[in-house]
Amino acid sequence: MASSTVRPADQDRDRDRDRDREQHPDQDRRPERDAARRLLDSSARLSYDPATEVDWDTPLDQDFHGMSPEWCSLYGTGYWQEMTEAQRKELTRQEAASVASTGIWFEMILQQMVLRDMYAKDPTDPRFQWALTEIADECRHSIMFGRAAAKLGAPAYRPPRPVLELGRLFKTVAVGEAAYASILVAEEVLDVMQRDWMRDERVVPFIRTINNIHVVEESRHMKFAREETRARLRAAGPLRRRVQALVVSIASYFIVTSMIHRDVYANAGLDVERALAEAKANEHHKSLMRSSCAGLMEFLSSAGLLTRPAVAVFRRAHLI
Ligand SMILES: [Fe+2]
Ligand SMILES: [Fe+2]
Repeated sequence: MASSTVRPADQDRDRDRDRDREQHPDQDRRPERDAARRLLDSSARLSYDPATEVDWDTPLDQDFHGMSPEWCSLYGTGYWQEMTEAQRKELTRQEAASVASTGIWFEMILQQMVLRDMYAKDPTDPRFQWALTEIADECRHSIMFGRAAAKLGAPAYRPPRPVLELGRLFKTVAVGEAAYASILVAEEVLDVMQRDWMRDERVVPFIRTINNIHVVEESRHMKFAREETRARLRAAGPLRRRVQALVVSIASYFIVTSMIHRDVYANAGLDVERALAEAKANEHHKSLMRSSCAGLMEFLSSAGLLTRPAVAVFRRAHLI
């Protein structure tokens, strides 16, 4: 009787579990393997090919914003009040391109960290297969962001040279929870912005599609990053936890402070020095960042990664 009520999906899952028990006698990572299997199922059900999903052909309509104006670094300042609507739209388009370019920079760091982490690991493990799926997602995302920046009429916005070199070091040496928690921070910060932009009718439609694709696919990445951060920290002693907490906060600082390139102001026809000064003092933007990161900080706190030094760095980045 019971068997007739079991759906094929349940049978598949039971079979996978039995196989899992035979193939992976270490049952420690079993919850993570089950989670990775669910992520693989979800990815098979809903993933996008930006090459065909995004409207790349329609010329850019200058009547639209590139992001919700409330997310603009100058929104709420005196300078914003003086700008024409066309200047505001140009600035939000340049800033959206800058965020996309910073996204590419971090996605390349992330792909290398995950690939290094999975080097020579068990390819039959769903965690291995999920990690490669995530890398494939990021590869498509970076191409999508590159095409988007070009369509927005923006140049390549790269972080300043010292930050680029720090990123080069980080992607080469970061391991375990520091790698996965930093990935999580970058993904969460981008996620909250893009959730707003994808629903906003003032934002140019092709950017809304891109945001939608990214939000859907990144929600799986964030689940994986949370699972891996927790799992890696189980083996960490207090010293390692403190060091890694500080590393994560410093990585977050550079990710967040690199989001808006200083050249966006010149490219929107603004006075660069004035724009930089007003953006730096913009309390609206700082409080928006803080409130959007509340959930992320709760997670980091529950993982024991909000040590005093880390909180000081997060505060400087206006994430807390
Ligand atoms: Fe991505
Ligand atoms: Fe991601």
